[in-house]
Parts: sequence; structure tokens; C-alpha cells
Amino acid sequence: MINLQQTGDLEQIRLEACINNFTPPKRLYNASFDNYLNKTEQQKKAFNACKEYSLYDLKAGKGLLLAGSYGTGKTHLAVATVRNLISQRPDLFGVKHKENSHIYPMGGIQEYRGAYCFYVSMVELLESLRPNSVRGQEYGEWIFHRAKADDLLVLDDIGTEKPSEWVEEKIYSLIDIRYRMNRATIFTTNYTEKQLEAQLGGRTISRIYEMADSYSVVGPDHRRKGA
Ligand SMILES: Nc1ncnc2c1ncn2[C@@H]1O[C@H](COP(=O)(O)OP(=O)(O)OP(=O)(O)O)[C@@H](O)[C@H]1O
Ligand SMILES: [Mg+2]
Repeated sequence: MINLQQTGDLEQIRLEACINNFTPPKRLYNASFDNYLNKTEQQKKAFNACKEYSLYDLKAGKGLLLAGSYGTGKTHLAVATVRNLISQRPDLFGVKHKENSHIYPMGGIQEYRGAYCFYVSMVELLESLRPNSVRGQEYGEWIFHRAKADDLLVLDDIGTEKPSEWVEEKIYSLIDIRYRMNRATIFTTNYTEKQLEAQLGGRTISRIYEMADSYSVVGPDHRRKGA
């Protein structure tokens, strides 16, 4: 006989495990649609698009690009979108383990099969890939693998990286595989399309604009008191 209390507990455990597996930034761990304020029409439009983002969109590889000035809530909306999806059907989402890893010791934590979600900022991703990265090569490879392979990626703050041939090549290889495999990606950026093109190269930007519907998130800087 099914113990309903237990079923509820298990669902909650899976929900939390899947959200942790998504690795949202600690400061925005609880970012949701309930605690987002729409102060401008553009914010409302972006908010609605994020709120409507569905499991069908994820499966279809549809992405979002949230562009705008700092502090307008782009990362907040991106995290809330993923939290909302996982909360609707935690049974469809997964937790990925890295075997024999000293980086992510998962001892005792259940591994779940399902759609994997992953948050990473572009700067952190590139830093972890550098040959002299403080956290070592294995960590960088794991992060890059997840960014390429997970079913839904939040790629935060594109365009802030210092351009170089190496940076352009790494970003292109990430975007191109997600593009070819039709994997859903939510991008955030402070930059315009033109600036991104100069920063990341035309081939990468062309793919990003096909992969994602873009919204401008215009509003006051929420980090400043009284905004
Ligand atoms: N419209 C909003 N309603 C409620 N909270 C908000 C809103 N916009 C931003 N915040 C809060 O302000 C802080 C900064 O938001 P967030 O990190 O999402 O900004 P951002 O647009 O990603 O900025 P940046 O471009 O600098 O990365 C967070 O704590 C977030 O929860
Ligand atoms: Mg941000």
C-alpha cells in the first residue's frame, strides 16, 4: 500500500536534490516568480515568457535570452524559470553523479534519472577551463561536460569575458554542440546583439539568436536601495 505521507516526502527530497543539482547561485537560491516585482512593461513581458516556459519548450530545445542592464533581475528570472519547471514535475528531473569523484562526493545521495539542469556563469566556466585553474583540470572538464550535455543550461552573463581566440573557440564549441543537439539554453547578458557579436563572434551569435527568443529586461537597478 502506498503511504501518501511518504510519497510527499520523497517528492520533496527529489525536488530539493534536483534544484541542488542545478547549482543556482546561493544568493538567488530562492528566486521565484512570487518574489519578482514587475516595475516596467519590459520586465512584465520577460516575466510572462519565463513563467510560460514549459516542459514542452525544454523538450523542443527552445531557449530564452534575457538582455538588459545590471540589477534588473535577469539571473533572478532565469533561476525562477528552472525552479518553476522542476517544482511542477520533480519526477521528470534528474541528479547527475560523477563517478569516483572527490569533487562532488555524492555519498548517500540518491541519483535520479531525468532531465538535468545546470547553472553556470560564463566567467566561472572559462576560469575553470584555464590550464592553470585553481580547482584543477578535472573540475573544469566536469563543468564543461555538464554545460555541453545537460538538458537545460542557464548560461549567465555572456559577453563579459575578455575576448581572445581561445575564449571564442571554447564558447563556440559549447554553443555549437547545444545548437546541433537542440538542447535548451537560457542566456543572460548586459550586452546588445551588436556588442555580443563583436565579443563572441558572428557564428556563435547567429546560433544563439536561433536557439533563444530574446527579451529585454529594462528596469531600475534592484540592488540599489529605493530603486
Ligand atoms: N524585479 C525584481 N523583483 C524582485 N527582486 C529583484 C528584481 N530584480 C532584481 N531583483 C533582486 O535584485 C538582486 C539582483 O538581481 P539579479 O542578479 O537577477 O540581476 P541581473 O539583472 O542578473 O544583474 P546583472 O546584469 O548585474 O547580472 C537579486 O537579489 C534579485 O533577487
Ligand atoms: Mg545576473
